[in-house]
Amino acid sequence: MSEKPWDGRFQEGTDKAVEVFTSSIFVDKRLYKHDIIGSIAHCRMLAKQGIIREDEADTMVRGLEKIKSDIESGCFEYKDSLEDIHMHIESALTHDLGEVAKKLHTARSRNDQVALDIRMYLKEVSLDVIQALTELQKILVGLAQTYQDRVMAGYTHLQRAQPVLLSHHLMAYYEMFKRDKERFEDGLKRIDVMPLGSAALAGTTYPIDRHDTARQLGFSKVSANSMDSVSDRDFIIEFLSAASICMMHFSRLSEELILWSSSEFGFIVISDAFTTGSSIMPQKKNPDIPELVRGKTGRVYGNLMAALTLMKSLPMAYNRDMQEDKPPLFDTVDTLVACLDIYIRMMPNITFNEKKMASATETGFINATDLADYLASRGLPFRDAHSVVGRAVAFALDRKKELHDLSLDELKEFSPLIKDDVFAYLTTQGIIDRRMSYGGTASPCVRDAISAALKELNLDG
Ligand code: ARG
Repeated sequence: MSEKPWDGRFQEGTDKAVEVFTSSIFVDKRLYKHDIIGSIAHCRMLAKQGIIREDEADTMVRGLEKIKSDIESGCFEYKDSLEDIHMHIESALTHDLGEVAKKLHTARSRNDQVALDIRMYLKEVSLDVIQALTELQKILVGLAQTYQDRVMAGYTHLQRAQPVLLSHHLMAYYEMFKRDKERFEDGLKRIDVMPLGSAALAGTTYPIDRHDTARQLGFSKVSANSMDSVSDRDFIIEFLSAASICMMHFSRLSEELILWSSSEFGFIVISDAFTTGSSIMPQKKNPDIPELVRGKTGRVYGNLMAALTLMKSLPMAYNRDMQEDKPPLFDTVDTLVACLDIYIRMMPNITFNEKKMASATETGFINATDLADYLASRGLPFRDAHSVVGRAVAFALDRKKELHDLSLDELKEFSPLIKDDVFAYLTTQGIIDRRMSYGGTASPCVRDAISAALKELNLDG
């Protein structure tokens, strides 16, 4: 007789190739802990409800704990013939305990069991991700404090646009990661729903207490519809989507770090310990970490697409297709966690070249908007001011000069409104200091943003 719990109606054994093809054990074995903790709670509930005896529950709980330590000490054998982690654990329990273990699967099915395991796993992972994002935010705020009043060129279209504070630029990423964290936190509300007891799809005839199982496992809600509970994976898709958006932010930060560490920009130096060399070009020091993070963003997007496509048009309730939810999920978790971890290590190892960043504000007509504002504040409608300054820029470009290199007389040719106070108006510091609008780059605004962030991170005490 074969070892499979479902072999009763079969006259022939399963073909080896089918076992290999249908098995997910080498992927889902990472759910062992959640599976065992879930089974223990289920077992306790069955006993409380008088569905099994207390002593039977005690025996099974001890047996399950032993399997957990067997797995953790590496003396547990995995094989394709037992399909998945749920069957492995049940079969090991039966092997260890005999008859009594066969009661564990009363009033449940692997369909609700796997949904429970993934939800338990994702609750844990979401909290880890949220914590890592908080770490990263702390590092960003710390850098913003260190470089609080340092100026740099701000870009649009990757062309010098207006000067900003480096701290303002860094705090932009603080905001992005803050929203990412909120997305994971919000997703947790929908992950934190206990599906066990939905059984195969229709619920069960046993007098179970699903709320007790939920309480034991620390779930705040119990799922309301058994068919939905075993057949939806939207909570996974939400996680993959939050992860994709987070990686999109990471890829933007990465792109900037790559550009900034080039000789063309020279804005930052990533320490030797966090860069790598070239096997052919001895002078090279490459920003491989941000490059890989930028690259890994692609596979995280791919995993989201895989999960969405997997679930598209699936009829209710459980379908075996859904076993394919785990490879993309685990790959995204591993990738995101690895990217967070390496960035938390690398970011404090970046040195900003303050001089180089500041000097980028001295050229590229970065003060052109402010000359237009100057004219507008002296009565010229902004559109006219814009065109006056456009002509001044063309004039200066012709002479290979910046606006502030033109003489007062030259500037006056473009508008009689220009007076000798214009030069003070056009300094980088002046430009930044005037951007006092809420959320702007003026130093007091950024200081407020940093204080708000420190408060959010509970670092203000
Ligand atoms: N390994 C399966 C999965 O991940 C568990 C559920 C199996 N259910 C079934 N009826 N074959 O989806």
